[in-house]
Amino acid sequence: MSEWWRDVRRARSASTRTRSVCHESTPLYPNHIISLNAQHYMADLPPFTPSTFKQTEAPVPDWQSGQSVTESAEGREWIAGEEQGWKVIDTAAENPMNLYKLMISGIVPRPIAFVSSVSADGVENLAPFSWFNMVTHNPPVISVSVSAASGRPGDLKDTASNIKATKEFTVNVISEPWVQNANFCSMDMPPEVSEWPSSGLTKADSVIVRAPRVKESAFSMECELLQPVEVVNPQTGKPTTTLILGLVKYIHVRNDMLNERGNVDPAKFKPVSRMGDITYATLGDGFRLPRPLWKDEEENVMKAVAERPEGSNL
Ligand SMILES: Cc1cc2nc3c(=O)[nH]c(=O)nc-3n(C[C@H](O)[C@H](O)[C@H](O)COP(=O)(O)O)c2cc1C
Repeated sequence: MSEWWRDVRRARSASTRTRSVCHESTPLYPNHIISLNAQHYMADLPPFTPSTFKQTEAPVPDWQSGQSVTESAEGREWIAGEEQGWKVIDTAAENPMNLYKLMISGIVPRPIAFVSSVSADGVENLAPFSWFNMVTHNPPVISVSVSAASGRPGDLKDTASNIKATKEFTVNVISEPWVQNANFCSMDMPPEVSEWPSSGLTKADSVIVRAPRVKESAFSMECELLQPVEVVNPQTGKPTTTLILGLVKYIHVRNDMLNERGNVDPAKFKPVSRMGDITYATLGDGFRLPRPLWKDEEENVMKAVAERPEGSNL
């Protein structure tokens, strides 16, 4: 039995015990196990509201360099929360499932890569991954992190196994109208069963990779495997995760998503993000803040440095 699976089982029985006495406790399982246990957290929710993105002013429109957070009412309320103290977690001593729960709810919102890949023997696969981001635009590189899957061939999820074998895949960004189609593909289907037929989604040909892209996605990337990085737990010496670095060879973006400056318009794109537990989020409003420049701010910065009180935390 792998360490990972042992952790899940330990957390599972602990969580079952706690749940019967404490309604507030949250299940501790990775995604597919969570989905089996979280139904009661979904009761009595209001209907979905599609996002209506608009641009607003910044939270503190007249903010000046050095201005304390406590100068706004929201800022004072924010700082007041600190009165309840801090929980400081030594990760080396913490149960990995508690780290999972904390990290996926604290590192938010996360974009989601909906990955299409094909196995060495031709089985097509779809799955969502939120440990995902852009690494750099030059060269265009993205990262997707796939945790180990005990009991699967090579202890790998199909996506990691396929990408390692074929060295190519597509990443499709998910929008609100079809998030449930994508979520369905997070199921632990056997490797020989493709998610495509039951997903309700449509295949579109890629230019150079074998894996199709998802036609419903307004922004897709054809990727070649640049480098797989095996992440090893230093305490156990065991690999737990494959970090996939993908070189983006082609980008497919729908014309109706682009604004006059060539940016993808968030109001039209309606991307969804991943929060903790089984929560997804739509976009809230946007606000614009210019990036400060040293040539404009040098004087203010040096004044603040000179006036810094002895022993101050500022
Ligand atoms: C929104 C969402 C995000 C997910 N993110 C990840 C992730 O970043 N890494 C991971 O290993 N699994 C993640 N999962 C779980 C995988 O989608 C799931 O294990 C899936 O069955 C893997 O499919 P595969 O074996 O076909 O590759 C996520 C699930 C959902 C619903």
